[in-house]
Amino acid sequence: MKTHLENLNWRYATKRFDENKKISAEDLSALKEAVRLSASSYGLQPYQVLVIEDEETKEKLRAAANNQPQLTEASQVFVFASYAEVKEEYIETYMKNVAETRGIELSDLQQYSEAIKGASLTLPKEKQAVWTAKQTYIALGFLLNAAATLKIDACPMEGFNAAEFDKILGLEEKGLATSVIATVGYRSEEDVTQNFKKVRKSSDNLFINI
Ligand SMILES: Cc1cc2nc3c(=O)[nH]c(=O)nc-3n(C[C@H](O)[C@H](O)[C@H](O)COP(=O)(O)O)c2cc1C
Repeated sequence: MKTHLENLNWRYATKRFDENKKISAEDLSALKEAVRLSASSYGLQPYQVLVIEDEETKEKLRAAANNQPQLTEASQVFVFASYAEVKEEYIETYMKNVAETRGIELSDLQQYSEAIKGASLTLPKEKQAVWTAKQTYIALGFLLNAAATLKIDACPMEGFNAAEFDKILGLEEKGLATSVIATVGYRSEEDVTQNFKKVRKSSDNLFINI
């Protein structure tokens, strides 16, 4: 645990990446696996994650992200794209996956399936989108943790124009909408923010012990 907390102190929201340092294929696949293993409500994972390293696409995304340099300097950009709405077919596909993975009959999952449908399909579309987007933040947390463990730098980011991202990445036609992003790579020596002290609430101010 000590090491884990040391890693969390080591990490910071990297502003400038060294564009010459790229994440190895092995480490990238570990980061993706950590995202894949994220918890999500009902296990539905109502999102897809784009992993972008194409330089031209990164340039376009940077322009749609207040020109933040992380977009082009980082090794990869993870774009968490949530379902714009929850469709019955997504739940059916998930149920098939559960049945196949666990070797059980689809009919035995009827109640579970109805519970998910009842909780999600009945919501107004805007609320469905809020709910699916929330799930992506958990996956983002898994990514940040895994990156810190591997001593890979990352910057979680909301400072971008989501509608422009959706257009650049052709997400609308896939039923997806950009929710949050993270850039990953290796910090530049010139990034002065790496020396800034961490600012956090004290435990007394954060936790309410009952
Ligand atoms: C959801 C989210 C969105 C963020 N958006 C940006 C961003 O657009 N640009 C940026 O440089 N940092 C962004 N940050 C980084 C935060 O400013 C940073 O995490 C916070 O100040 C705490 O500092 P630390 O992560 O370095 O410990 C974001 C962080 C989160 C969690």
